[in-house]
Amino acid sequence: MESPTLAIIKNPQQADDALLLDFLREAPDPERDRALFEAADQVRRAHYGDAVYLRGLIEFTNYCKNNCYYCGIRAANANAKRYRLTPEQILACADEGYALGYRTFVLQGGEDPYFTDDRICEIVSALHEAHPDCAVTLSIGEKSRASYQAYFDAGARRYLLRHETADPAHYRMLHPESMSLENRKRCLSDLREIGYQVGSGFMIGSPYQTPAHLLCDIRFLQELDPHMIGVGPYLNHPETPFAGMPSGELHFGIRIVALLRLMFPKALIPATTAFGTLHPQGRELALKAGANVIMPNLSPTAVRPLYEIYENKICTGEESAQCRGCLERRIASAGYRAVTAVGDSLV
Ligand code: 5AD
Ligand code: FES
Repeated sequence: MESPTLAIIKNPQQADDALLLDFLREAPDPERDRALFEAADQVRRAHYGDAVYLRGLIEFTNYCKNNCYYCGIRAANANAKRYRLTPEQILACADEGYALGYRTFVLQGGEDPYFTDDRICEIVSALHEAHPDCAVTLSIGEKSRASYQAYFDAGARRYLLRHETADPAHYRMLHPESMSLENRKRCLSDLREIGYQVGSGFMIGSPYQTPAHLLCDIRFLQELDPHMIGVGPYLNHPETPFAGMPSGELHFGIRIVALLRLMFPKALIPATTAFGTLHPQGRELALKAGANVIMPNLSPTAVRPLYEIYENKICTGEESAQCRGCLERRIASAGYRAVTAVGDSLV
C-alpha cells in the first residue's frame, strides 16, 4: 500500500476521511516527511513566492473572564499578575511598530469586560487615524454580532478567533460549561458575514485530542474557508487544570502545517510563537513546511512576561526592535524574505 503521506502529496484536495486519518496516524519517516515539506513549500512559493508577512502583535490586556482549561491567563489563575495597557500605550506600541516597518497591527487580549465596545472602538479608530495605511486586526474573543459590527465600522478589517477544536465532545473537555462550540462557530460566521478577513485555527496535541478530532478541524476549516489558519502545539502551563499534561510534539505539528498548506494553498498560515517556544528552530521549520506569516511581539517589554498563556513563552525579554532584527535573520536563514506590506490573503 502507498504511504498516506505520499498519497496526500499527490492529491491533497481529494483526500477522503480514511486517507486523512491514515496520514494523521502515520509514524514519522525522515525521507517521506522531507518530501511532504518540500511539496508544501512548492505550493506556498507558487502563490506567495518567498514572502513572509509580518504582523505586529500588541497584547493589550491579560485580564480574562473565561476559564479555558489550557490557558495560563484564565480568570481562576490567581497567581497571574494582571495588566491593561492604556490607549496611549497601545498607540505608542503601534508607532514603534510603524517605525520598524509593520503595516498590520493585531490587538490581542483576554476577554476583558473593562474594554467595552466603546473603548475598543475608540482605540481602533485612533489606530486607524494614526496609521491609515495599516490594517487593524482584532483578537479579543467571543462577542455579539452587534459588537463585531461596531468594531468593523470603527475600522477593524481582520479578526482572529481560533475555533480550538471542532469536535463538540473535545470542546467540552477543553472548556467549562459557560463556553460552547456552537457560540464559537456563530462568532466565526458573523465575522465572515460582516466582511472581516477571518483567521481561525486550533491547537495541536491539546489534551485528549485524537486524529478524529483533527479530521473534524480540517473539515470545519474547509467549510469556513478562512483567510488565515493559525495552529501551534499545545504547551503546558502549570497553573491550569491541565498542569502536567504533555505538550504537543514538534514533528507532528510541522506535519500538520504542511498538510494545511497543501489543502489550503492560498491561506495565510503563521509560524506561531508556540512553535518557537517548543523548539529553538520551530518557527523556521514551520516556514519551510508552508507557513508564510510571523507575528512579532510589539508589547512593552515590562508586560510581555505577564501574557503567559503557556510556560516559557519566547520573546518576553526582547525589545520590539530586537525581535525585528532577530526575525529578519531567522526568515532569511530559512530561505525567505520578510515583507512588511499590508499583505492581504489571496483567498
Ligand atoms: N498552549 C498553546 N496554545 C495556547 N493557546 C492558549 N493556551 C495555550 C497553551 N497552553 C492558544 C489558543 C488561543 C491562542 C491565542 O493561543 O489557541 O486561541
Ligand atoms: Fe523576538 Fe527572536 S523574534 S527575539
